[in-house]
Amino acid sequence: MRSAVQQPVVAELTRAAIFLVVTINSGKESDAAVWALCGDLAALQRAVGFRDLEGRLSCVMAFGSDAWERLFGAPKPKDLHPFREIHGQHHAIATPGDILFHIRAARMDLCFEMATQIMARLRGAVSTADEVHGFNYFDDRDLIGFVDGTENPVDQAACEATIVGEEDAEFGGGSYVIVQKYLHALDKWNTIPIEQQERIVGRTKLSNIELDDAVKPASAHNALTTIVEDGKQLEIVRDNMPFGDAGKGEFGTYFIGYARSPHRIEQMLTNMFVGKPPGNYDRLLDYSRAVTGTLFFVPPATFLANVAPDSPAD
Ligand code: HEM
Repeated sequence: MRSAVQQPVVAELTRAAIFLVVTINSGKESDAAVWALCGDLAALQRAVGFRDLEGRLSCVMAFGSDAWERLFGAPKPKDLHPFREIHGQHHAIATPGDILFHIRAARMDLCFEMATQIMARLRGAVSTADEVHGFNYFDDRDLIGFVDGTENPVDQAACEATIVGEEDAEFGGGSYVIVQKYLHALDKWNTIPIEQQERIVGRTKLSNIELDDAVKPASAHNALTTIVEDGKQLEIVRDNMPFGDAGKGEFGTYFIGYARSPHRIEQMLTNMFVGKPPGNYDRLLDYSRAVTGTLFFVPPATFLANVAPDSPAD
């Protein structure tokens, strides 16, 4: 299935995004509404996106493990399973989610219109588990003030990192995605000296330069999330976005990581939450709490297009 058309997993970083996670309500008519949307998603995206081509609207639709079994039965992507909680120095919780819509564009109105059109199709068939509107913040920084995304692989390397290949040929062209919504204790973070923040992240704050190995602690965020197997770095593509509610004092980072296998993301999470070695955990987590956690599979666009409104399996 190498020729399968992929969903826009590796899209350019954008100024706006909506992360919409829904659960499917009970009843066959709910399934039918989802099946119908699968086949229509590309047309919907074209219709909304055409209103401003420079807005580069894209939408990824992904499914959780239980939802996959319910909607499509067997076969199932080989590494798709419910998100595994991690109890370490900090807790990575698992939260409900049957379908993820990751909507990106240069303008929030395009994202919002796309989300509105999707929900109009799914009204009554799904319940919203979480909806986050992310925005681009000065120089691609997250709300803790660091530039976020620098070491993302690009072009061919990004496809290599994210797109399933021969290892699960039936689902080649697909991808896995893990999302986690983090809330920052920003007041507490802002009281610690910048040099200490830089040792936690592993890069300088203003100039965004990676700390030299001689001074970078083994607990630095970018040390714990660098996974090397058989001499090869196992990369993921992230498109984190800041979000918040100033009035409520809510400041967050929506983490989204795509990979051709969930194992590498899970390994990063274990290193962060348990530590490598155990105890040498990611101090970012002393200031950032994960309040959601869900794993999804992104089928190829061709798979979505072929979902029949009444009988998705054939
Ligand atoms: C509170 C949430 C998070 C924040 C604020 C955050 C922020 C950052 C920042 C500022 C960087 C350095 C610049 C860059 O290369 O992007 C970084 C790097 C990275 N982060 Fe995170 N991150 C968060 C959560 C996560 C999670 C949950 C994972 C994986 C499970 C992860 C994986 C990575 C990876 C792979 C890198 C690149 C490491 C390298 O190759 O240098 N991050 N992150």
